[in-house]
Amino acid sequence: MNETHFLNCRHNLLQLMEEGVAIITSAPAKIRSNDTEYSYRQNSDFYYLCGFNEDNALLVLIKTSESTKTILFVEAYNDEHALWNGARLGVEGARARFSVDEVYASSEYGGMIKEILREHVNLYIDLYCDSPRIVEAKGAAQALHSMRGIKRHVRSIRDVTYLIRSLRLIKSDEEIATIRQAIAITAEAHHEAMKVCQPMMREYQLQAAMSYIFLNSGAVSEAYGAIVAGGNNANTLHYVDNREELRDGDLVLIDAACEWELYASDITRTFPINGKFSNAQREIYEKVLEVQLRVIEAIKPGIKRDYLQTYSEELLCDALIALGILSGERETLMEVKAHKKYAPHGIGHWMGLDVHDPCPYVDESGESLAFVSGMVMTIEPGLYFRADDESVPECYRGIGIRIEDNILVTQEGHENLSAMIAKSVEEIEGMCQN
Ligand code: GLY
Ligand code: MN
Ligand code: MN
Repeated sequence: MNETHFLNCRHNLLQLMEEGVAIITSAPAKIRSNDTEYSYRQNSDFYYLCGFNEDNALLVLIKTSESTKTILFVEAYNDEHALWNGARLGVEGARARFSVDEVYASSEYGGMIKEILREHVNLYIDLYCDSPRIVEAKGAAQALHSMRGIKRHVRSIRDVTYLIRSLRLIKSDEEIATIRQAIAITAEAHHEAMKVCQPMMREYQLQAAMSYIFLNSGAVSEAYGAIVAGGNNANTLHYVDNREELRDGDLVLIDAACEWELYASDITRTFPINGKFSNAQREIYEKVLEVQLRVIEAIKPGIKRDYLQTYSEELLCDALIALGILSGERETLMEVKAHKKYAPHGIGHWMGLDVHDPCPYVDESGESLAFVSGMVMTIEPGLYFRADDESVPECYRGIGIRIEDNILVTQEGHENLSAMIAKSVEEIEGMCQN
């Protein structure tokens, strides 16, 4: 991601703001155990606006009727930190690297914040963030409020995240290229899992084969905890134990993907552990696949996300009727949500800097958003039949299938960004036999 991208993002946020000051904080470093930390993951909103990837930093955007200004506060370079954890960029380094107007040490923020807020009426923050820096800003606004001789003071504390996340909804060409890179690595990892899978392996061994591809390709992190679920484990939607043996004759559902430069991919494939679908598995698989293909086909600018959700539920309901699991009229079954027992989750979600990108799903009047070119969404229908569910024919019990791809809305319609990953029964069986 180059500086022009971040400059554009900040410019777009300033356009959405009324006059005032926005403060966005970096993510805090988090302790994993005693004195060791989790590997650092930047706050996506903060990264989106500046690309700075260290903790204890702040971005301040100031807008007046005449001008705008961006200030980055960063942790100063420190020899001790450089020795143990690596060199921080520091104030000079950040000044040279980032095209913000001013850079200061984070230690100066407390002394400057009152001056920064002076005469501003709007303060934009993450309302749900309990960062001490945000508390300090509110304290400074309050102190200014009770000072005599100040003509204007903060009268409105507003949510900055809604504005940022509305912008994050539409990906730039550079963001799309970054997502493509994450998907390319993830594609290789899913193909590797299909190739190496054998009965009696453990679920974590498949995960390890994929993790090797991620790391060896330079993708330092998964986009979320991998789900490698053999047999009935696929019916636990967020199964992350990944410790059981993979049994001959079962399917394995793998929902795993890497992130690249903080941008996610999110891919699920379900395939036979021994490389060959049984008749019952194939029957369900082809139903889920048909639903997925038809939903993807419907994606184009102007289509509302709510419509896609309802459409996918209708198709899943039809599939359940065709499989003999539900009986009756689709409309009546949908009314009582009979399909939800076997298809309990939504059709998909926005994806970007977060795997579940927290961008709005509805407009300000509460209406479902219509697709616009540049949006990226997952399409991930699934059918789940628990091993102990006597409401389904015995041959279907213990089968859980989800198929998930990442779809870009384009001006012409859509592009399946993960179309290169084996998905038809023939492609999957072919890949498993490699
Ligand atoms: N991997 C999480 C999801 O599919 O939403
Ligand atoms: Mn997903
Ligand atoms: Mn997923």
